[in-house]
Amino acid sequence: MKGIILAGGLGSRLYPLTHATNKHLLPIYDQPMVYYPIQTLVSAGVDEVLIVTGGPHAGDFIPVLRNGRQFGLKHLEYTYQNNEGGIAEALSLGEEFADGEPICVILGDNTTDADIGPAVQGFDGGAMLFLKEVPDPDRFGCPVFDPEDTARILRIEEKPDRPHSPYAITGLYIYDETVFDYIGKLEPSNRGELEITDVNNFYLNDDRLRWVELDGFWSDAGTFQSLYRTTRYWAEKKLGKANADRVAAGLLEIS
Ligand code: G1P
Repeated sequence: MKGIILAGGLGSRLYPLTHATNKHLLPIYDQPMVYYPIQTLVSAGVDEVLIVTGGPHAGDFIPVLRNGRQFGLKHLEYTYQNNEGGIAEALSLGEEFADGEPICVILGDNTTDADIGPAVQGFDGGAMLFLKEVPDPDRFGCPVFDPEDTARILRIEEKPDRPHSPYAITGLYIYDETVFDYIGKLEPSNRGELEITDVNNFYLNDDRLRWVELDGFWSDAGTFQSLYRTTRYWAEKKLGKANADRVAAGLLEIS
C-alpha cells in the first residue's frame, strides 16, 4: 500500500508561528510534526509516500525530509496544492501517485502511537476509518451511530454544534481507488472546501465503509492547545513522566 500525507494549508490558526514555516514542520518535542505520520506509515509497512503541501513555505520540506531514506522510505514524492481547496481536493492530487492501488492517508498534523499495521495489511477495499474518543468531538468529523446497532455509523457530521457521540473521525484513512471518483462528485461545503467527511459519507451510503477504534494516543496539533497537548504527550512518552517533569523544572538535562 502507498501512503499520502496531507501537509498543506496556511496554518492560520497557528499564526504567528506559521508565518515562519509550514505548520507540519513545527516541533512536536524533538521532531518536526510531519515526522510522526511518516513514522506511523513506515511502521505499518508503507514505504512509498507522497507529501501534498502548499502555501508559502512548501520548499521548507525538502531540506528536512530530503529523499526520505532516513525514515526507511523507498520513494518520497512531493506535490503542491495551489489553493486552500480542502483536504479532499489535496487528496485528489494523489491520483497519479496512487496509480490504482489502495492508499493510507494521514493528515500531517495528526500524531498517534497506535499501530495501524494490522488495518493496513488486512485492508480489503472500500474505506477504513480510525475513531478515537475525545473530550471535544465538535472540533472534528463526528459519527452518528445507529441506536439499534451501536457499531453501525449512520452518517458523519463535520464539526457539529451538538455532537451525537464522543468520537472523532481521526485524520487517518485507508481508501481504495474509488476515492478519486467520489472526490470528483463533491461540491464545495459552506466553508468553500471539498470535505473529506463528504467522501466518507459517499462510502457510507454505498455500504463500503468500515471503522476501528485507534488503540493508543491520538491528537491533531493545528491549534495552540492541541500543539501543546501533543508536545507534552510525546515528551512524557519519550522521557518518562517523572523525567519530563524534572526537565520542565530545570532539574534534569538530557544529553
Ligand atoms: C479535519 C477533518 C475532520 C477530522 C480532522 C482530524 O479537520 O475535516 O473531519 O476529524 O481533520 O484532525 P480540520 O483539518 O478542519 O481540523
